Amino acid sequence: MDERQNVDSHVTAVSGHSIDRGWVRWAMDQILADINRSADTHLIKVELPKLPGIPLYLKDESTHPSGSLKHRLARSLYLYSLCNGNIGPDTAIVESSSGSTAVSEAYFAKLLGLRFVAVVPVGTAQEKLKQIRFFDGEIEEAAFADVYGRAEALAAQLNGHYMDQFTYAERATDWRGNNNIAESLFSQLAHESHPVPDWVVMSAGTGGTSATLGRYIRYRPELLERTRICVVDPENSVFFESFETGNSDLRIQSRSRIEGIGRPRVEASFLPTVIDRMLKVPDSASIATIHWLEAVLGRKCGGSTGTNVYGALQLMAEMRENACEGSVATLICDAGDRYLTSYYDKNWIDAEGLDLQTYLTRLENMTGIRRQ
Ligand SMILES: Cc1ncc(COP(=O)(O)O)c(C=O)c1O
Repeated sequence: MDERQNVDSHVTAVSGHSIDRGWVRWAMDQILADINRSADTHLIKVELPKLPGIPLYLKDESTHPSGSLKHRLARSLYLYSLCNGNIGPDTAIVESSSGSTAVSEAYFAKLLGLRFVAVVPVGTAQEKLKQIRFFDGEIEEAAFADVYGRAEALAAQLNGHYMDQFTYAERATDWRGNNNIAESLFSQLAHESHPVPDWVVMSAGTGGTSATLGRYIRYRPELLERTRICVVDPENSVFFESFETGNSDLRIQSRSRIEGIGRPRVEASFLPTVIDRMLKVPDSASIATIHWLEAVLGRKCGGSTGTNVYGALQLMAEMRENACEGSVATLICDAGDRYLTSYYDKNWIDAEGLDLQTYLTRLENMTGIRRQ
């Protein structure tokens, strides 16, 4: 705050935090122009021989310019921070991230000419680190449990701004619309045989995407009656147990194998009250699913897409058992070329002790689609 002034003998005024309005205007223009240059992501329809009348829809978020669903979040976080007065022309941006958010935030930092530092857990996929550097981002590695603290301390040291996706993801996104992921997904379903899906399935990292989807389903009367949201959680994550028990103080030390999802603590952006159901998906099942999905799509997807699709298939099988027809939607979160040295590397799979074959057989029997 600036110093107090006396306006007249009865009124005392104090000025607030000053911002460089010219620069903020310029920065907003850059982001709005970037949005204007962008097309919407595709919604892919998948029909499976053994699950007739139950189409699966995949919203392909891997096609954003920075390669994942986190492009939307990064854009929202920059707009939120600009409007909150947290970013100026000389502000260094710092984020704690398992990679995808950092790639997307680096993209927007470059667009705005800002310094960007990502604090990533040791062992983050090399391909993601390369992409952060591609957008001129700097990288600090920290022990898995220390990334939040290190990012916050670094932002203070640089007199910068800690974006803190895990706290702000759910509120930085305009959940009622503005072409958010939910509005885009449901409008793309409008001309389908089952335009109002029975289930939307999503995994949680920050929990921000499931929060936006869940709120939007309740906000739109045409969805409220029928559509339910299911959040899928990998091994080594507290979300499922917290949802089951109501305990939001859970902590674990181990790290999720599925990059981008599964957390050691219940993040502030994870909103259990908007979720209808959760499923715990074994990591072998998630990774088997992306190998199986290659036969369906002709391309590779990231691990969290496997978790999403495995969960969606369980719900579709359940609908089939109950003789129901209807649609199920989920997300392709990012592409598989980021994970060639992990999920697509046999040595890595063996070293992790994962059994893909059991789940591949199950997926083939359940869907009628075989891998070549
Ligand atoms: C690849 C990938 N999938 C899924 C998610 C989960 O999205 P959200 O953070 O909105 O819960 C993330 C989040 O970082 C991610 O990077």
